[in-house]
Order: sequence, then structure tokens, then C-alpha cells
Amino acid sequence: MASPRSSAKTRLQKGKIVEPRVHILKDGSLSAVAEYIKEGKAKNIIVMSGAGISTAAGIKDFRSPGTGLYDDLEKYNLPYPEAVFDISFFKDNPSPFFRLAKELLPGRYRPTFTHYLLPLLARKGLLLRSYTQNIDMLERLTGLDDELLVEAHGSFATSQCIKCEVVTDSKWVRKHILKSSIPYCETCGGLVKPTITFFGEDLPARFGRLALQDFKKCDLLIVLGTSLQVEPFNRLITRVGPECPRLLINREKAGEEMHGGFDFDDKWKYPTVRDAVFLGNCDDGVRELAKLCGWEGELQAMFEAGNIEMQIAEEMEALSLAAELEEAVAVANEAEKEAEEEAEEKAEKEAKKGARKEAKKEIEKETKREAKKEAVAVEPETKRPLQKKEEGKEKEGRQKETPAEKDVPSEDDVVQQLSERLLSTDLNAASETFTAADEILAVSTESVVVVTTIVDTKEAPKPAQV
Ligand code: OAD
Repeated sequence: MASPRSSAKTRLQKGKIVEPRVHILKDGSLSAVAEYIKEGKAKNIIVMSGAGISTAAGIKDFRSPGTGLYDDLEKYNLPYPEAVFDISFFKDNPSPFFRLAKELLPGRYRPTFTHYLLPLLARKGLLLRSYTQNIDMLERLTGLDDELLVEAHGSFATSQCIKCEVVTDSKWVRKHILKSSIPYCETCGGLVKPTITFFGEDLPARFGRLALQDFKKCDLLIVLGTSLQVEPFNRLITRVGPECPRLLINREKAGEEMHGGFDFDDKWKYPTVRDAVFLGNCDDGVRELAKLCGWEGELQAMFEAGNIEMQIAEEMEALSLAAELEEAVAVANEAEKEAEEEAEEKAEKEAKKGARKEAKKEIEKETKREAKKEAVAVEPETKRPLQKKEEGKEKEGRQKETPAEKDVPSEDDVVQQLSERLLSTDLNAASETFTAADEILAVSTESVVVVTTIVDTKEAPKPAQV
């Protein structure tokens, strides 16, 4: 009896002979998939993709030994490579992510030939949805309708505060990333990060909602450039029905280990033959598939047109950047000029102020000198009170010489004195040398002199007042 394994029709499963396996695909080759498509059996194609579709654009994948990003993170001193995308680690130490984000930031890369398979399938009405793990946003640049795209791990398109969840202007975050600074929420002070799904975070709600409805409808699953090592994305390959063919285009096999995973080597995992693999570069596999389907020219044309568009967009961007730069330089020059003028004006003002101060000092000195001179010149005047005093004294002296009114005895006093003297004269005590008659005569003469003096004094002009 021939070995059950030698028969393509009947095989033993757990010791029992089972029905001949249903061949959804003739075999596990690209041409079998192309045949399936050409037969019109693939009307709801889902494409799942990973970093391998963008390496031809110059973006590193994560896990390729030697060239993958996770082999190049030593400079960040991470406890383990995936920590750079781990939300708990990020909360404590956001800096490695932001340093890496500067390298990953979209804007410098163009979609690859493989990326254009998506709009090609969409144009033919065969694309149900494209699910990508990539955060580079290259699918968007092919012109693929947003509705047909699920960015399962988010993207740089938007940013959000991890604390209050306020969605922030992504341009603002982009500027921070380019400046190598960490953005903090202007509302609550929390850390702001691009809406990339980190390990430990939920995938976008849209992912779960659409996956639930799409995968059961899927009639051809094409998996491109992924190691299928990250859950829950990798589990999507198990969500299609058993009769849905699956094709992996990747540099190496992947997704075989999990329950419901690929069965490329016909290990009888399933009652159907439906898994195919192309081992090699995505662009080569996709080109080959397109060729087999008769779409190669169309896809090439789309790729080239897209490239021209990208080139124009890049040139426009470069022009607008150049204009922005020119404007910034002009603004900076203007500001510099203004600052210079301001400085000059200030210096001039300071100089004037200094000169004014000097002049003021000089004037003050001069005034003082003048004042001194004047003071010397007007000394008599300024000494007037003293002189007055002295002059007064002098006058006083002079007035003493000329009998002053207040020193002149009144007529009555004089008459009184003389009368008293006359009356006191003892007429009987006359001597040989002095007789009463002599006394009377003396008094009378004296009286006449005194009275004459009084009269003279009274009639004399008063001294002028000073
Ligand atoms: P991986 O780096 O894990 O896998 C990329 C796969 O693509 C590998 O199997 C490579 O051999 C293959 N490959 C690379 N270049 C290729 C090419 N030109 N043609 C064909 N195959 C090629 O990347 P992903 O599977 O995408 O998470 O990684 C999944 C997730 O892990 C990412 O989304 C990322 C990472 O942590 C976040 O960014 C949050």
C-alpha cells in the first residue's frame, strides 16, 4: 500500500483517511494566486503590510538582523529595544522616542512600487481594505482613499496628550521633534506624543470595528513585508475563512507558528490548500504578481506618475521651504537691522545724555565760578547789614557828638536845676572870693547858655536816615 503522504488526493489525518483536500489554490505559488485573481474569484482583497514594504523607500524595518531599527538603538541606552515604543517606559523617559521620531518623521520618503499595488487594486474595485502596521504614512501618499486604509499602529498624522487626551496640532509636535525638544500639553502639562500605538496601548477603535466586519468577507489576503510578530495585528491572518487564499510576500517565512497561521509546506493544517508564499523583496514579488495578472504596465505607470507627483510635491515643498527660509532670513535680517539701529540710537542717546550731563556739570561749575566772581564783586552789598551796623555805630558816634534830642535836657529840667541851685545859694554866707551876687550871676549866665543850646538843638536839621 502506497504511503498516504505520496497521494495528493487522500491523506491520513490522525490515523483516519480524510476526504481529498480542497485546493483553493492550485499550489502555494504566485502564479496560483494570479490564476485565482484572473478567474475573478478575488473581489474583496485585504492587504496587510509591515515595515518590509517601506525598506525600499529608505526606511529601516524593525527586526531584520543587523539592518533593523532594533539593532541600532544602542545609543539610546534602552533596557530592551521595544522599550522605545513602550508606553510605561515613555512616561518615565520620553527622550529616546523623540530622538528616534526625528529619524522616522514622515516627509522625506516616497512610496515604493509595492505601495502602488493598493491604489491599483482600489481602482479595479478589488480592494476591501489595506491594514498597515506602518507609521510612515506612505500609503496615504499613493492617493489611496482614507476609507480604504487602516493604520493599525496609528501614525504621525495627529498627536495627543497622554494625560488629558486633548488632540494637538501635529505641526506643533513636528516642530518640537525637529528641534529635538519634548512637547508638553499646553492645557494640562502632560506629555504629548504622536498618535502612534505603543506597546501597552489599545489599537485605534476603528481597527477593531472594521476588522470585525472585513475579515469574514475577505476572499484573498495578501500579506506584505512583515515578521508577523506583533499582536493583535498578526492574528488577523487567522480571521479569514478557511477557504480564503493567503499570500505572503516577504524575505522570509512568517506567521506559521501561531494557531491558524500559514501552512506553506502543506503540512495538512487545514482541509484546504490555500496558502502561498513568495520569498524575496516585496517590490519583486508584487511586480511578478502584477505581471502574472496582466497589470504590470498599469502598476508601473501608476508608480511613475506617483513619483512625478511626489517629485513635484517635493519641489513645491522645497520651494515653499526656501520661500519660508528666505522670509525667515529677511525677518531675521530686518530684526538684526532694527536691533542695530536701536543699539545705535541708544548709544547716541547715551552719548547725548553723557554730553548733557557733562555740559550741565560744566554749566554748574561755570555758574559757581561766576557766582563766586559775582559774590566777590557784590561783597559790599552782601555785607551791607554788617556795614549798616558799623555805619550805624559810626552814626551813633556822630550823633553823640551832636547833641541828640534824647540827650538834651528839657527846658523845665534845666530851669528846675538852676532854680534849685539859686535857692540853695546862702546869701549870708558870702565870702571875700565868692558872693551870693556872683552865684546868682553865674547861675543866670549858665542858664542863658543852656537855654540857648536847647533852642539851637531843637532848631538844628535832623541827621538823614540811612
Ligand atoms: P519587522 O521588522 O518585524 O518585520 C519586517 C519584515 O519584513 C521582516 O521579516 C523582513 O525580513 C522583511 N523585509 C524587510 N525588507 C523587506 C523587503 N524589501 N521585501 C520583503 N521583505 C522585507 O517589521 P513589522 O513586522 O512591520 O510597532 O513590525 C511590526 C511592528 O513592530 C511595527 O509596527 C512596530 C514594531 O514594534 C510600532 O511601530 C508601534
